[in-house]
Amino acid sequence: MRLPITAFIALLALPALAEEPWGKVDLDAAKPLHDKACQSCHTKMYGGDGSKMYTRDGRMLSNQLELLQRVASCNAMVSAGWFPEEEGSVAAWLNKHYYHFEN
Ligand code: HEC
Repeated sequence: MRLPITAFIALLALPALAEEPWGKVDLDAAKPLHDKACQSCHTKMYGGDGSKMYTRDGRMLSNQLELLQRVASCNAMVSAGWFPEEEGSVAAWLNKHYYHFEN
């Protein structure tokens, strides 16, 4: 079934769907996953622990969903082989420490 785009937009606007998008999260698992698969490349670009990637001026992301999508596409790009729950956990962890998006 295909919903008309207006129905989709109306659904997005519902407060119930303004919940955090990452579902069940394991923040303790997130940091090792991130450090193993993601950090070295960001460090090559920005030095230090690479976290400047997430706090730089003009960063690309502006909400939780974009953050989750970015983590998912990086996972695919680097073939880290994470499950969706792991993508969600890393996105939530990045949000907690760097992005602080509330929606
Ligand atoms: C091969 C190098 C490389 C690896 C490995 C890598 N990234 Fe990235 N990442 C980049 C580059 C380059 C950018 C910036 C892209 C741009 O500026 O257009 C980026 C940007 C990002 C951003 C957005 C930063 C912003 O502007 O807010 C996030 C989030 C991110 N990466 C997460 C991850 C995650 C999660 C992983 C591990 C699954 C990962 N990256 C692995 C190279 C890498």
